[in-house]
Amino acid sequence: MGIDDSAWWQRGAIYQIYPRSFFDSNGDGIGDLDGIRRKLGHLVELGVDAAWISPFFPSPMADFGYDVADYCGVDPLFGTLADFDALIAEAHRLGLRIILDFVPNHTSDQHPWFLESRQGRESAKRDWYIWRDPAPDGGPPNNWMSNFGGSAWAFDAASGQYYYHAFLREQPDLNWRNPAVQDAMMEALRFWLERGVDGFRVDVIWHLVKDALFRDNPPNPGYGPGQPDINRFQQIRSTDQPEVFDIIARMRATLAAYGDRVLIGEIYLPVERLVAYYGERLEGVHLPFNFQLIAASWHARGLDEMIDEYERAIPEGGWPNWVLGNHDQKRIAGRLGAAQARVAAMLLLTLRGTPTIYYGDELGLPNVPVPPELAQDPWEKNEPGLGVGRDPARAPMRWNDSPRAGFTTGTPWLPIGPQPELNVATEAADPRSMLALHRRLLALRRAHPALAVGGYERIEAEGDLLAYRRREGGEVLTVVLNLSAREESLDLPAPAGGWRCLVSTGLDREGPEPAGPLRLRPDEGVVLAEG
Ligand code: NOJ
Repeated sequence: MGIDDSAWWQRGAIYQIYPRSFFDSNGDGIGDLDGIRRKLGHLVELGVDAAWISPFFPSPMADFGYDVADYCGVDPLFGTLADFDALIAEAHRLGLRIILDFVPNHTSDQHPWFLESRQGRESAKRDWYIWRDPAPDGGPPNNWMSNFGGSAWAFDAASGQYYYHAFLREQPDLNWRNPAVQDAMMEALRFWLERGVDGFRVDVIWHLVKDALFRDNPPNPGYGPGQPDINRFQQIRSTDQPEVFDIIARMRATLAAYGDRVLIGEIYLPVERLVAYYGERLEGVHLPFNFQLIAASWHARGLDEMIDEYERAIPEGGWPNWVLGNHDQKRIAGRLGAAQARVAAMLLLTLRGTPTIYYGDELGLPNVPVPPELAQDPWEKNEPGLGVGRDPARAPMRWNDSPRAGFTTGTPWLPIGPQPELNVATEAADPRSMLALHRRLLALRRAHPALAVGGYERIEAEGDLLAYRRREGGEVLTVVLNLSAREESLDLPAPAGGWRCLVSTGLDREGPEPAGPLRLRPDEGVVLAEG
């Protein structure tokens, strides 16, 4: 594929905004839509192409917006529909696309549909959710566990039945086998498509359909003490059912009626199952989120195999993508340390496929420690002490080095955290900062079709060096990454005109390289051109 026949979501980079934590325009300590609008300039200077905004719909906020009470509105905490319209208009004026977070697997228990459904067995909306009789002993209908701890079944004493919730009991799962549910949810998609959104990231899309017979999940042999409840069983009956693909195709067709919009699926599955979500005839999601860099152990030998395996698994015509972090995971700088996080950024932004950058990772933000009494995340509260809490990666964005980081004039909903020097203003003034590196790499992607859309070829390397070529038209770029804290060298035959370094993670190595083996300093990565 050449740059001219690529789609915007193929050649571009996506930036995830967690709206509570981006910029607070009204001093209540919580970010909002107007705050995002005012900070779009940051995305433009960074060089990303689209913003995916986590949910801002009316919600009791039991799971911070992933419990939706109205699919077609804006929670007052985040502003109004008029604020949204202003945000999207300004984004489009700046050449940025807006991707919404669609949460179709479950609603809030306060959604009018669920309120009606739980009125009783005769309710017209009873079958919009998943209601089952108790097991013969009166307990839950089967062994399915909630992702946030405990059984996934909540008992409703009034009707004597249980309802299923894969997440909190305040997040009842919709029954996607019911065509009326499908129709209503396609309407919700159209509501936002009419308002001009450029696509959707679909929450837990592999969860939508459950086993028709509600059979037990088998035990997980890898489960042991100290692990969260969800690890007790393999989720093979409660997720990833073949009937889901028709539903995804219906979503895709709904988007297709509006032209060039993107459908992204949140899917945590092994690669061979993940790629099924492209659809047999590519009628599935455009991008099944690829989280392998989050789970991978950080060694070149292993990562190279993983990348190859992924490249091989992608169906003809499917487009790869890569993710380093999101609002559910520990931050990359915390996982790898500041120096290696720069190498990870170079990997993310030079692999073949659409990169998604999690807000704040472009600054190298750490995981912010949150004392138990300030914990917000319901998962942490349900299963304390296991390290499952997601608050540390959700701390406020830092705009300057003031005590509230320029995020709010009020009390931030989560602590700002240590290392105040990691902020946009300070890093924008430092030509070697993490922010400068991100800007440089994103600019390089835009300038070089080989990086944006070119092919991927692994280069055999040893030790902790990861090396590959990206090729498009006549251009070949070579990427060499040192995943270790030792010096490493690679004996790679130099092209006729020698190597020319386009960028190093240190931002201090540009121009012709000396003859002889390529030398990489500890935690250094380079992008090289020929001659
Ligand atoms: C996945 C989302 O990313 C996560 O934040 C949320 O808690 C669950 N889905 C439930 O919606």
